[in-house]
Amino acid sequence: MKIYAHRGYSAKYPENTLAAFCATAMLPIEGVEFDVHLTTDSRVVVIHDEKIDRTSNGSGYVKDMTLNELRQYDYGSWFSKEFAGEAIPTLAEVLEVFKDTHHHINIELKSDVFVYAGMEEMVLSEVKAQGMLDRVVISSFDHEAVNRISKLAPDVENAALFVNMILDVAKYQEKLPAKALHVSLPTAVRKPVLDAISEGSIVRVWTVNETKYLEPLLHIGVDAIFTDEPEKMLEYLTKR
Ligand code: G3P
Ligand code: CA
Repeated sequence: MKIYAHRGYSAKYPENTLAAFCATAMLPIEGVEFDVHLTTDSRVVVIHDEKIDRTSNGSGYVKDMTLNELRQYDYGSWFSKEFAGEAIPTLAEVLEVFKDTHHHINIELKSDVFVYAGMEEMVLSEVKAQGMLDRVVISSFDHEAVNRISKLAPDVENAALFVNMILDVAKYQEKLPAKALHVSLPTAVRKPVLDAISEGSIVRVWTVNETKYLEPLLHIGVDAIFTDEPEKMLEYLTKR
């Protein structure tokens, strides 16, 4: 079972910052996950929420600000003074961190609240520019975006995100089409997911921060977990 650092190494570092990604890049784990939004001047930036309020000293929607405006704020101090001055990263900057590592990169398109016209094309073009198309999985709760990725780049891995499960998810996955399913932890044990795994679907599970869940997930046969605690999970899986 593979380990992906969720929002970078977000238990120890401010989420979705270069500090978190540089720490992740040093870890012998398989992957990293982060979230992207689009600025008003069409730059792909890495941040979880639609607004910058929770993870910076600023306020407002990412979609209403330019990259320069977003760069005025501090995205590290809310987590710890030690990280004061962390900037909001662009997708290109984060890809650069992992350019020479072995990590698989999960880019989550946060287009389920606001429509970010053209974001799929922009993300694909930035990944292509870094020569990393074979090392990414592009996921979203917005299944129209997942479908658009499959049309724009049929060979690039895409994944549909689920908070709750639907009946016959394997058939849905085939129709979308999506190459993988990313499901919430409570959803991982639902019958449609178990059926999908037995039919060969790649299933990855978020957010797994306690080792007590690892044996059941290993038993189910999930491909990977997303965790804020990659070292804790790695220690358990290595020693077992
Ligand atoms: O991509 C898996 C997981 O990150 C989805 O939830 O809210 O942490 O982006 P969230
Ligand atoms: Ca995410």
